[in-house]
Amino acid sequence: MAHSLWKFIDDRGTFTSDDAHRINTLYFPLCNASGIMSSVSPDLHGDIKTDFNSFLLEPVSRVLLNNLRSSRNFWVHIGPKKIWSAAGVSKEPNRLEDKFQMEAGLLWHKITRRNKKIGLKAEITSFVPAGKEPVEIMRVDITNISSRPVKFIPTAAIPLFARSAHNLHDHRHVTSLLQRVKTTKSGVIITPTLVFDETGHRKNLNSYFVCGFDEKYGPAQRVFPTQEGFTGEGFDLEAPEAVFKNLPPPGNVQGKEPMGAFRFRSRILKPKESAHYTLVMGIVNDRAGIPGICAKFNDKTKTEKALMENRSFWQDRISSIRINTGDRNFDNWVKWVNTQPALRKIFGCSFLPDFDYGKGGKGWRDLWQDCLSLILNDPEEVRPLLMNNFRGVRVDGSNATIIGKDPGEFIADRNNISRVWMDHGVWPLLTTQLYMHQTGDLGILLEETDYFRDHQLSRSGEIDTRWKPEDGKSLKAKNKEVYKGTILEHILIQNLVQFFNVGPHNHIRLEGADWNDGLDMAPEYGESVAFSCMYAQNLMSLSEIIERLPVKEISVLKELGLLLEIITPMDYSDMGAKNKILREYFQSACRQVSGEKISLKKTDLIDDLKKKAGWISAHIRQKEWLPEGFFNGYYNNDKERVEGRVRGVVRMTLTGQVFPVMSAIAGDAQIKQLFASCRKYLKDKKLKGFHLNTDFKDEQLNLGRAFSFIYGDKENGAFFNHMIVMFAYALYKQGFAGEGYEVLDSIYRMALNTKNSKIYPCLPEYFNAEGRGMYSYLTGSASWFMLTLVTQVFGVRGEYGDFLIEPKLSGDQFRNDDTLSISANFAGKDIQVKFINPLKKDFAVYSIKNAVLNGKQIAKNLKTPRLLIPRGTLLASSGAITLEITLD
Ligand code: G1P
Repeated sequence: MAHSLWKFIDDRGTFTSDDAHRINTLYFPLCNASGIMSSVSPDLHGDIKTDFNSFLLEPVSRVLLNNLRSSRNFWVHIGPKKIWSAAGVSKEPNRLEDKFQMEAGLLWHKITRRNKKIGLKAEITSFVPAGKEPVEIMRVDITNISSRPVKFIPTAAIPLFARSAHNLHDHRHVTSLLQRVKTTKSGVIITPTLVFDETGHRKNLNSYFVCGFDEKYGPAQRVFPTQEGFTGEGFDLEAPEAVFKNLPPPGNVQGKEPMGAFRFRSRILKPKESAHYTLVMGIVNDRAGIPGICAKFNDKTKTEKALMENRSFWQDRISSIRINTGDRNFDNWVKWVNTQPALRKIFGCSFLPDFDYGKGGKGWRDLWQDCLSLILNDPEEVRPLLMNNFRGVRVDGSNATIIGKDPGEFIADRNNISRVWMDHGVWPLLTTQLYMHQTGDLGILLEETDYFRDHQLSRSGEIDTRWKPEDGKSLKAKNKEVYKGTILEHILIQNLVQFFNVGPHNHIRLEGADWNDGLDMAPEYGESVAFSCMYAQNLMSLSEIIERLPVKEISVLKELGLLLEIITPMDYSDMGAKNKILREYFQSACRQVSGEKISLKKTDLIDDLKKKAGWISAHIRQKEWLPEGFFNGYYNNDKERVEGRVRGVVRMTLTGQVFPVMSAIAGDAQIKQLFASCRKYLKDKKLKGFHLNTDFKDEQLNLGRAFSFIYGDKENGAFFNHMIVMFAYALYKQGFAGEGYEVLDSIYRMALNTKNSKIYPCLPEYFNAEGRGMYSYLTGSASWFMLTLVTQVFGVRGEYGDFLIEPKLSGDQFRNDDTLSISANFAGKDIQVKFINPLKKDFAVYSIKNAVLNGKQIAKNLKTPRLLIPRGTLLASSGAITLEITLD
């Protein structure tokens, strides 16, 4: 294998690879907003679906990616010994002589195979049109690369599944009996009679289809609508008898495993001449629409146009953030990272081959964090999304766990297990705060919306057996009307409830788990010091935000008064008293609320929040700094401290360090020390990345499943990018730019080290102990990476609506050029900020000296780390804006 798996070939993120077909775990995402989601591997394996119950091609996970029943193929039959698969999936040895290349960009995929012996070159381009059509297009171009005419019979072959992923094993055969096939002039349409579900069968509304077109001769001569009719008794899709023996389709086609195979008219190509075929594969509700959809893609000109539109659509989507660092690989790689949050918006956390646990939807914390980068790209688009998300908050401060695709589609838990995650209350404020800073729209806090209500009460401590789905999913007041509270009230509840929800060491209880889903075995007495830090930060941020609100009084739900010292006197060091207050609050509010509001003096509320924040911070500072030189982040279900030296083994988590730094609970000296400890205990000597934790050498059945995973994978010590990137963010935030850069850069280096990472350009969820990238594309780390890069490294962000520039660039980042630039969308303007650093100085020594806006000097001879430009100044400039910042 060449030393790099792929290389970028332009400045639009396009890359090529000569070796991708040697790695069986590689896949590429294709999708559009209509809900079509595909994965495509270098030999065109991978599935196509719209949701868990609607798979056009058989569902695949990472280890089954080369499953033949989910492979798109195109056969060329020249003679009995000259049979060739243009996708490279064949029992015939001819393919071993193929010269392979793949090329991909935002968001299309092309493979080229040339075979001198066969005398042909095949280019197969796959994409999902950017419009509303729920289809994947596969365009096949066959060219004669020999010096003689080549005659061949072309056959397209798409094995279909056409049902729910549930039926992969469950009632696989029975569900094939439901398949009803209709062959049309240009294709195959499968409309199963039922959605097979023993809890209640339903009439199936989906139609699954494949249509095929020969550019020259139109529809196929023969259509094979079943797999067995195509393969013969061998059932071998790598040696189908329809191709190998040139057999005709069988008569009986109903109630079988379906197929979309088309034998087109035989063709003679002169040297250099090409033949073009198009396959349109899709899932629709109304099969009457299929001819109309296919008519949009039935020739090369149309697919070419659709492909161009697809390219511009994805380029546009990420165009608001553009960087120029003089490192072309980095700039291109960032384009892919910036695309990832948009991919997770479409795929959720489930629908690519690594995500075999998923049934669709996405989790609460993922939903909020994906919004971070969406806000950076286009804050206006995100406002309704934020408003809607708050409707998932329960009055006990917990929330619906899974969020479906439609607004207001909240589900308590995908597996009907009653549990809550203690960190969930943290994320909404972080995201809303970014939104408010970018837009200056503090008014969102005073908008009102519902609360979520279901059978779980008191943070799942109680189940309301009398509650029925027909009661509706909104909390009601005594008068039976749906109760609405402000967004501010929702946030207050999320954070105040947690202040009282403490365990034996007076830190916030771990409950079902925190950010680390793998810490799920300490529900009674476990505590997360790490996320207690974040609640302290949130309470402090809230006090600052409220200070800015242009009101004197804040009106909140009456019951909330129970959690405020101004109304209920309390002693914060008394855990018992805290728990009692919480119980009283739950009893008064969980089933239904009074509906009455009380008015609080803004200053009283601010004092209360500050006091609570200060109390948590001091408590952690005092109790949780360890002699080993880092913070303890957890207590287990046996009430024991988790981190520190245990029987000679140093137990340390990265999470336990990230949040004291982010929340400024750690002082500067502690940050230095804990960073040194991270280097010593967590930084991998060989791969240079930061592990999520040290090897505890023992299972932790009183803490969580994570420690039962092999060390170095997933939540047990992998290079878990989400936490690593949040570490970088925290370090930058506190002015430790050199350290932040070291951490952030480690991720990029590992991703680009394709000898180990074996992934396409993207930021995966984590790298395993061998440095292999796992779970490509769908990860919250992408959003945080963009947030860190834009708002911390380049330091370009909003501050209550004004434009702040506070670059934290290291001298090393200027190694290729003395000018770096970033373009970002702010106040509806496309703003390019250029950082000119003639002496290539480091953040530690430079300050902002001069600032020039659209050629006009706006600041001169400064010596400041940060420059705030009023929003009004930007709004007054017409067109795009260029800002030149000189650093010295
Ligand atoms: C995933 C989950 C995220 C969770 C994390 C750690 O991370 O999506 O909610 O906090 O594992 O358990 P991601 O894939 O977003 O990087």
